[in-house]
Amino acid sequence: APYLNNLAQAAGKLWFGTAMDTTTAEPDDVDYMTVFNDTNIFGQVTPGNTMKWEFTEPTQNVFTFSEGEETIALAEATGKKVRCHNLVWSSELPSWVTDGSWTNETLLAAMETHIKTEIEYYGSGCWSWDVVNEALDSDGGLTSNVFSEIIGSAYVPLAFQYAYEAVQSLGEDIKLFYNDYSIEWAGTKNAAAIALVKEIQGWDGAHIDGIGFESHYSVSWGASQAQQEEAMASFTALGLQVHITELDVPCTAVPCTTDALTIQAQIYYDTISACMNTEDCTGMTVWDFDDKYSWIQPADYDGEGDPDLYYSDLTRHPAYTAVAEAI
Ligand code: XIL
Repeated sequence: APYLNNLAQAAGKLWFGTAMDTTTAEPDDVDYMTVFNDTNIFGQVTPGNTMKWEFTEPTQNVFTFSEGEETIALAEATGKKVRCHNLVWSSELPSWVTDGSWTNETLLAAMETHIKTEIEYYGSGCWSWDVVNEALDSDGGLTSNVFSEIIGSAYVPLAFQYAYEAVQSLGEDIKLFYNDYSIEWAGTKNAAAIALVKEIQGWDGAHIDGIGFESHYSVSWGASQAQQEEAMASFTALGLQVHITELDVPCTAVPCTTDALTIQAQIYYDTISACMNTEDCTGMTVWDFDDKYSWIQPADYDGEGDPDLYYSDLTRHPAYTAVAEAI
């Protein structure tokens, strides 16, 4: 079988990578780990959960870095880079953040401490950080969360300012990304994300290097290759690099029908092709590769499932070959 990371790197990209989660059964699953550890297939890893706020600072000023360190150790053992994920998001927050009685000043201080402590602790173990995740609603408005409610829209550029200060104090070239969904095609949310990037770029002391296109599609809808290229161009025009960060394509029912597998393969193909056709689209990551461990399980997602490149028995979906062809 073709090796996706080898192909991607030979074509000038940084990597073909995957998410994984050390809190699941994955690290003990020998068959899973055999594929994960194969750097010919995956040259990069994103921790699916373990660097999020509720894992890293479950109590204010008490940091737990061990799960994230495990991911970094697995990456270093097999020559993978780590896209660290994420510093500020509405979800997976500890209750002391969501239920705290904050003022603008105290929440900003807590956010600054969280951002700087994580960046400084993991240091060059992180190739990049998703500094702010999903700050926008599907309609392009600011997502309502404790940060937007207490601090207002300035929390986004301020997060990038704090992150940049940490990176500069380390003296490391750690890339800073904004990561979101439904920005992969032109429309209201894409336009709002462009405006947000410009706000960050215009903010004194802030810095942003790249934009993450989550690319969570479904066999019932995916952005076309042309739509994705257009959306990528709208961000590369601002000087950003683009990464595909969380690609997966569930079938509407499992097992996937033959027709669904064909559509799934096409959507993977179109997405990877858009990145290949965009010079400044530099990295491509799937949101895990084994259906067994996908976050999209039929019981939780109304019957949807099997979105990944490998079935639970680690045989490959047709989409695997489609990705190889696209690269
Ligand atoms: C998901 C994880 O995969 C799940 O295990 C967790 O329960 C919820 O979060 N967008 C993101 C990711 O940026 O962090 C999310 O990951 C999926 C959607």
